[in-house]
Amino acid sequence: MTTTYTVLSEGLEKRFGKVRALRGLDLAVAQGTICGLLGPNGAGKTTAVRLLTTLLRPDAGSARVAGHDLVREAAAVRRRIGVTGQYASVDGDLTGRQNLRLFARLHRVRGPAETAGELLERFGLTEAADRPASTYSGGMRRRLDLAASLVRRPDVLFLDEPTTGLDPASRNDIWEAVRTLRTEGTTVLLTTQYLEEADQLADDIVLVDRGRVAHTGSPAALKAVVGTYVEVVVADADVMVKAAGVLDHLTGARPTFDHDRGAVGAVTRDTTLTLPRLVRELDAAGVPLLDASVKPPTLDDVFLHLTDETPDRDETEEAAA
Ligand SMILES: Nc1ncnc2c1ncn2[C@@H]1O[C@H](COP(=O)(O)OP(=O)(O)O)[C@@H](O)[C@H]1O
Ligand SMILES: [Mg+2]
Repeated sequence: MTTTYTVLSEGLEKRFGKVRALRGLDLAVAQGTICGLLGPNGAGKTTAVRLLTTLLRPDAGSARVAGHDLVREAAAVRRRIGVTGQYASVDGDLTGRQNLRLFARLHRVRGPAETAGELLERFGLTEAADRPASTYSGGMRRRLDLAASLVRRPDVLFLDEPTTGLDPASRNDIWEAVRTLRTEGTTVLLTTQYLEEADQLADDIVLVDRGRVAHTGSPAALKAVVGTYVEVVVADADVMVKAAGVLDHLTGARPTFDHDRGAVGAVTRDTTLTLPRLVRELDAAGVPLLDASVKPPTLDDVFLHLTDETPDRDETEEAAA
């Protein structure tokens, strides 16, 4: 079986004056999957999305998006993609319904009114459909924005930080909508600053650091590089020794001790070692616990492990040039 890549880029570069926003970005997003472009502020995520959606031209490198060359067939690419930006593109003076109808007409969709109605229903906006979008909550606006990008049923949808600034409930709504799109066969490339979001949604994560891919892998593989930190707190030194024996057995790693807190911890790459299991295992071994925790790695942990924080040689040279 051969994999079709809906987004395939090689060596994409973009500079803004002296800033090298992208320094050779290679991406391969398989058809029908969700790819999470994960990286901190300034990594180049938005620039990547703006290039891949033809809003900006690359200085170097090439890409094919939905079967078309990004530069030579930009119009064809545009017809096959949807994009939701970091900043909403909907007009606040118009109602949700008017916004979607307008988009449908702009894109010459047959039955703009029906399309608008269906999308409003799908994103839970039917009740608010005839109110100006400026009265919508942040979550509603983001859903409307997402709906607008789906007016034309894109082959590939680009979402730039779709949930930044949303409350947990709204964030979950967006996540559900994105998952539904995947089941319908849409390829999704989303950017995020949150490891949790990439973990929840993405089939593959591309870690972007200073305009380049620092690492690629499944969410589990990425987290496993760092490992989860498990820790138990117990009453006295004797129990600490017992707890350490159990942790050693469970994780295969050498436990570390914090005698002041009565804490014993270890790093594990075993994602089945959840908090309930940890507590059960220690209980079964007759170790009385005061506290226990399982801390998955944060994006910061992952970054520290996978990126080289020393100043980049050619970046320094560029800056001096
Ligand atoms: N239009 C622009 N003009 C100048 N610098 C820019 C512009 N857009 C982005 N940059 C710079 O490029 C780098 C990457 O930015 P961006 O792609 O927005 O990162 P991210 O989306 O990951 O936060 C940053 O250093 C940013 O300041
Ligand atoms: Mg951005």
